[in-house]
Amino acid sequence: MTKKVKNQSLGKAREAKQDEFYTQLSDIENELKHYRNHFKSKVVYCNCDDPRVSNFFHYFSYNFEKLGLKKLITTSYKSQERDLFSRNDSEHAVYLEYKGTRGKGNVPDPETIGIKHLRGDGDFRSVESVALLKKADIVVTNPPFSLFREYLAQLITNDRKFLIVGNQNAVSYNEVFPFVKDGKIWLGHNSGDMAFKVPAYYPPRDTRYWVDADGQKWRSMGNTCWFTNLDIAKRHEELILYKEYSPDEYPTYANYNAIEVGNASNIPRNFKGAMGVSVTFLSKFNPDQFEIVGSSKTLAKPMSALAKKGTYSQGGPRFYLSNGDGTYQRLYDRIVIKNKQA
Ligand SMILES: C[S@@+](CC[C@H](N)C(=O)[O-])C[C@H]1O[C@@H](n2cnc3c(N)ncnc32)[C@H](O)[C@@H]1O
Repeated sequence: MTKKVKNQSLGKAREAKQDEFYTQLSDIENELKHYRNHFKSKVVYCNCDDPRVSNFFHYFSYNFEKLGLKKLITTSYKSQERDLFSRNDSEHAVYLEYKGTRGKGNVPDPETIGIKHLRGDGDFRSVESVALLKKADIVVTNPPFSLFREYLAQLITNDRKFLIVGNQNAVSYNEVFPFVKDGKIWLGHNSGDMAFKVPAYYPPRDTRYWVDADGQKWRSMGNTCWFTNLDIAKRHEELILYKEYSPDEYPTYANYNAIEVGNASNIPRNFKGAMGVSVTFLSKFNPDQFEIVGSSKTLAKPMSALAKKGTYSQGGPRFYLSNGDGTYQRLYDRIVIKNKQA
């Protein structure tokens, strides 16, 4: 392969994966302030973070003493360039271990602390990175979106505490939802729109893309959230319910015995049975108030067993509502919950 062709295909692969999204310091601060009590005497590991450019390194090194950290470890992936966007073109990577030893008044500068070289490429699944993971108490980062399933599974298998950025759609993945249902992970404090710096080679896509006055490319995503297994106050806030149940207002699905609620603010306060709510409910989920029964992906019965072909639109498993004229409307993914206090 010629060098030009190789570079083109590398560029295409990078574009297809689109894993270079850089988290802003303000987003990290706004989330981390809700977890202060978890970090005392802990080893924090940021395993998708070049210490020379990552705002996760920046946050934890500058707040090392305030949080009472024991150690901070960060590893980069396939890059030794001091470049905001991992070039992914070096088979080598760097890491840094910081024990809060900066002198009075000094800022924690990665070069002074000591950048070390990993033997491998810094892949979070590599032997070296897994060895560092095992030394850590809490993993905090924004991992590659394209490897989210595998990334999360590794944290759970290794029984680590974590706080990671993800996309709320991941909740519906077959590999992720069981962890949510079993209370092994939950959503963090903030969710919604988050803007990330992206590399110059990322192509313009839609309205959620812009270039700032300094020529920096940005991308925002409306359904970004944090996934964690660290307890936070928000998880214990009770959702105030105002509505009364009535069969007219809350129809039962055609292919599962639960009522359609949709928006969490419409959950009736006096209904004991199963209710389907949209995935965004999870940002309000309090396990003392509600139980998660499952999701429409696994609970929905096939419409082919219940209705004539042509009366409903096909697709993956979802709940359907009768239109009352022999046809059915297909709904978005739903999470099925029960109110423990009704
Ligand atoms: C969404 S970006 C976030 C970067 C940084 N954590 C931040 O929040 O600013 C994900 C990062 O993971 C890196 N990455 C991609 N594949 C990886 C892998 N297999 N192991 C470790 N890091 C990886 C990418 O190069 C990218 O820098």
